[in-house]
Amino acid sequence: MRVFVTGGTGRIGSAVVAELLANGHAALVLARSDASALAVEAAGAEPLRGSLADLDILRAGAAQADGVIHLAFGHDFSSSEAIAKAVAEESAAIAALGEELVGSGRPFVTVSGTPVVPGRASTEADPVSTDGPVGGRGRAVSAILSLASRGVRSTAVRMPRTVHNRGEGGFAGMLAGIARRTGVSGYPGDGTQRWPAVHALDAAVLFRLALERAEAGTARSSRRTSHRPAPTRSGRSAGGRAIRASSRTWRTSSPDASKAMRRRLPAQPAARCGRWSG
Ligand SMILES: NC(=O)c1ccc[n+]([C@@H]2O[C@H](COP(=O)([O-])OP(=O)(O)OC[C@H]3O[C@@H](n4cnc5c(N)ncnc54)[C@H](OP(=O)(O)O)[C@@H]3O)[C@@H](O)[C@H]2O)c1
Repeated sequence: MRVFVTGGTGRIGSAVVAELLANGHAALVLARSDASALAVEAAGAEPLRGSLADLDILRAGAAQADGVIHLAFGHDFSSSEAIAKAVAEESAAIAALGEELVGSGRPFVTVSGTPVVPGRASTEADPVSTDGPVGGRGRAVSAILSLASRGVRSTAVRMPRTVHNRGEGGFAGMLAGIARRTGVSGYPGDGTQRWPAVHALDAAVLFRLALERAEAGTARSSRRTSHRPAPTRSGRSAGGRAIRASSRTWRTSSPDASKAMRRRLPAQPAARCGRWSG
């Protein structure tokens, strides 16, 4: 497939683009700057210059693709206004992408979050929150999933709060960064909370599988490709793994790093991902 990808230069998106190319797809990647366009070309994909605010460019990207994967988001959490602006920009962008795909039967894979349920682990049956500062993101994803009834094979991949690569990313990456700066490996509260996490290379497989075979209107979490979450204070948690990953160059500098990370992924759960509806 020729796939239009937004956010294809980000932590998750760059892994998704590599995963697509490695599996015989071509990628047309939204690039909002010269630097991003160069990065896209270096990855072996084709840049499409524009930003999330350029709705005509987004429509044009979707129109010339066999499917869309949306991952771009402006992570400016400096003020409530900045967050609201990013959420509004993304909501308009994915609505435009979705409308372009109506009636085509083409896949539209978008990213979503993992619901927070007080007192127990959340499941895929729990709805994503539509309240709070980023509640608009949940509403936008719900709207996209509802396009399943209008001829879009729309799906959402629910990411945990930590998607990491090279010791960075998400909540665990923040803890790893603090540990690197201060030499202290900390955790919030008493450290008994369990944060699910997934490596970006593993998440990328799930995005590709969703593109290729997910049923319209479905949302799945990355738990099937993720580590079992350990207590945050444990060295086995994603934070602990991230700290170890950042201190061992072989994990990141070896040409076989990607292969090594794949080996950490148990084959059976990966195979189960293929049965998206299972
Ligand atoms: N990492 C995590 O722990 C995590 C967890 C749960 C959900 N997610 C979600 O997964 C998605 C991808 O996350 P990530 O960690 O890969 O993010 P990231 O590393 O910050 O990358 C963001 C991507 O979006 C692009 N982008 C941002 N604003 C844009 C705009 N206005 N126009 C065009 N492109 C724009 C960036 O382009 P440039 O390269 O040009 O800056 C980059 O490609 C996001 O929706 C994020 O909220 C991430």
